[in-house]
Amino acid sequence: MQRRDFLKYSAALGVIGALPTWARAAAPEGQATLPIPDLLTPDAQNRIRLTVQAGSSTFADKTATTWGYNGNLLGPALQLRQGKAVTVEIRNRLTEETTVHWHGLEVPGEVDGGPQGIIPAGGAREVTFTPEQRAATCWFHPHQHGKTGHQVAMGLAGLVLIEDNESRMLRLPKQWGIDDVPVIVQDKRLAADGQIDYQLDVMSAAVGWFGETLLANGAVYPQHAAPRGWLRLRLLNGCNARTLNFALSDGRRMYIIASDGGHLAEPVAVTELPVLTGERFEVLVDISDGKPVDLVTLPVSQMGMALPPFDQPHPVLRIQPLRVTASGMLPDTLVNVPALPDLTGLTQRTFHLSMDPMLDMMGMQALKDKYGDKAMTGMHHGDMMGHMNMNMDHGGHGGEFDFHSANRINGKAFDMHNPLFAASKGQYERWVISGEGDMMQHPFHIHGTQFRILSENGKPPAAHRSGWKDTVNVYGARSEVLVKFDHDAPKEHAYMAHCHLLEHEDTGMMMGFTV
Ligand code: C2O
Ligand code: CU
Ligand code: CU
Repeated sequence: MQRRDFLKYSAALGVIGALPTWARAAAPEGQATLPIPDLLTPDAQNRIRLTVQAGSSTFADKTATTWGYNGNLLGPALQLRQGKAVTVEIRNRLTEETTVHWHGLEVPGEVDGGPQGIIPAGGAREVTFTPEQRAATCWFHPHQHGKTGHQVAMGLAGLVLIEDNESRMLRLPKQWGIDDVPVIVQDKRLAADGQIDYQLDVMSAAVGWFGETLLANGAVYPQHAAPRGWLRLRLLNGCNARTLNFALSDGRRMYIIASDGGHLAEPVAVTELPVLTGERFEVLVDISDGKPVDLVTLPVSQMGMALPPFDQPHPVLRIQPLRVTASGMLPDTLVNVPALPDLTGLTQRTFHLSMDPMLDMMGMQALKDKYGDKAMTGMHHGDMMGHMNMNMDHGGHGGEFDFHSANRINGKAFDMHNPLFAASKGQYERWVISGEGDMMQHPFHIHGTQFRILSENGKPPAAHRSGWKDTVNVYGARSEVLVKFDHDAPKEHAYMAHCHLLEHEDTGMMMGFTV
């Protein structure tokens, strides 16, 4: 018996029985095929060209204005080599400013594309960097302060794949779009006319922007036909706010082989995989039995996110095995993930995430008014009573309230001109991120580093969250991470650390820091 068969995995929660009948039947006729982002490699001069542009896309049967990189929606997958410099020329054809941030890449602050890296409407920017980090599935997206949520909602996001020699030796599935398949999952709220219906208001500033339409690489419940055998899925939660909880519709296992910043030491078998906004996991799925199966997302306990149709397992992607057989393998061991270094005497920093109580109560009230009590899943009963009482006591003061700086770190809303501290280059630091006193989920992300989670929400990290990560869960408790920054980030190009629930980020739950 192979090592992985001994790994612990949780029992399937009756996934099959809970799926609506139509999802168990054969794929509906005319089901879209999963769009595969183009692989874009640097040219002979080591250059890549990206154009940020507006276009249109059809979701279900209506057409919406959407934005994309080199296309109408989303973007290509940039394939970069460890140790090889690349120059990215970015042209902005939008009528507003944007930035392009390399999420998960350990690159200097100057080229990181945070909120200071502005590319004016009609303008351009060129950045050169060398990824020195290990093989990983990262991504890029806008980071325009106050506009990140809107620009991502409009469709701006793409993948960055870093390759290295160690991972090349692994006999994993590697055929792009065949048995190595990117799955960018995003929800969108569409208006009656089919347009993307984005608002940054008290409700979204409190719980995030979410919608009823779920997309995989921009398509509604598409299908992917793959050779039978091992299928590799590179999962990205590209939602603005929604936590996803991936499972397979027949309860079969997923073998996690990589987290945000690289491969795990060995595969971890699970039947459910919660993925926070901004996070990536790579999984292998065994489809050698030739039976079609759906990738689904199970209901989560996050406010606003269990509203129909997400109160039941919701299909993301139909996987249709072909007759031909696949050649990739699931190795028993993957790469060397170093043991944690000695933690004594490290610089420790504590960050407390908070929401102005006025935003909290107004946001909860707006959510309840719009969707009723069923929107409040994810809140404990006691807290709900607290929220409602606060409401009755102070409900009337909302008039002048400005939610744009109502989300905070250590009591301060984001200020682009004042980084909060200086981290020392090349030194490990222990960062404690607290969400105590708050019933909100905060996927906390740090630029310029791939870190290790020491504890997550008061508990030791799960096996598949113990490798390289750039995002950690903070949900009513404390999480501790071990960070190290190997590049400079001067004041004008400070790194960011922030909640990756984009509406929290856009309304202040972000801080700059220098290295
Ligand atoms: Cu994915 Cu600071 O961002
Ligand atoms: Cu980032
Ligand atoms: Cu948050």
